[in-house]
Amino acid sequence: MPPDASTRHGRPGPRTRRRASGRKRLLHAARHPDRLLRYVRRLTRDWRLLRASGGDHIAFYRAVMRSDVSKDANAAVGTPSQERWEAVGELQFSYLRSHGLLPTHHLLEIGCGNLRAGWRFIDYLAPGHYYGVDISPDILLAAQRVLAARGLQGKLPHLSLVEDMGLAHLPEGHFDMAHAHSVFSHSPLHVIDECLTHIPRVLKPGGFLDFTYNRTDDEEHHVLHEDFYYRPATLIALAENKGLTAAPMDDWDALPHRQCKIRVTAPPSPSP
Ligand SMILES: C[S@@+](CC[C@H](N)C(=O)[O-])C[C@H]1O[C@@H](n2cnc3c(N)ncnc32)[C@H](O)[C@@H]1O
Repeated sequence: MPPDASTRHGRPGPRTRRRASGRKRLLHAARHPDRLLRYVRRLTRDWRLLRASGGDHIAFYRAVMRSDVSKDANAAVGTPSQERWEAVGELQFSYLRSHGLLPTHHLLEIGCGNLRAGWRFIDYLAPGHYYGVDISPDILLAAQRVLAARGLQGKLPHLSLVEDMGLAHLPEGHFDMAHAHSVFSHSPLHVIDECLTHIPRVLKPGGFLDFTYNRTDDEEHHVLHEDFYYRPATLIALAENKGLTAAPMDDWDALPHRQCKIRVTAPPSPSP
């Protein structure tokens, strides 16, 4: 996986990605032959994995994760250096804390990776209150190693392998908050649609899901089926069609992180 936006922390740059023209890309490639080589290697690998997955995005992305985790689990979630891994985890944790996360809450993390933020949530929440799901068995094994290294076994977090966004194994109306950082940025629209279809069932009334995404105000596109770029209006309309309230999180967007955030909130319980 290419370093996620998080690794460009400290170099804010524009939130909206514009696609470079072919000529500009060629010039850029000529100036950075090392990057070109990396890109060609990734292109070849991804083409092979895409063919082997028969076009199933989850199978493809699971294979990408397997390949990336075999080299370096921190890099597989987008932050090759330990320092950046810590910083991006802290950013996610302190954001949700500042938005009211309490130790008594139940938190669902979709695409929990190797617990970059997850270990902080687990440490903070009451035992058994953290649920992490991921499509990658390899990253979940790496997550267990992080859990053990941080001495958090006693917090009994739930770490589950999933094959889709159906969330079928999770109880109804259970979660105060859900969180998906740098997951929709790697997801085609039908995967996001599936998540937004099922998330209302597992949230408490008035509970919310925060997700980050790569924003474009131009044509929506993907790079190597790994990185997806969406207009905010597309994602907001998708959520509203499921009866969720959707809002861009301007305070997150003001932070030095390239991905933007949207919060989708489940309807409150009907008044008696
Ligand atoms: C860039 S990593 C981010 C991990 C974690 N959220 C973090 O910030 O450290 C993306 C993670 O999402 C997982 N993922 C991708 N698509 C998913 C899906 N449809 N359902 C659940 N997890 C998914 C990947 O396996 C990977 O662990």
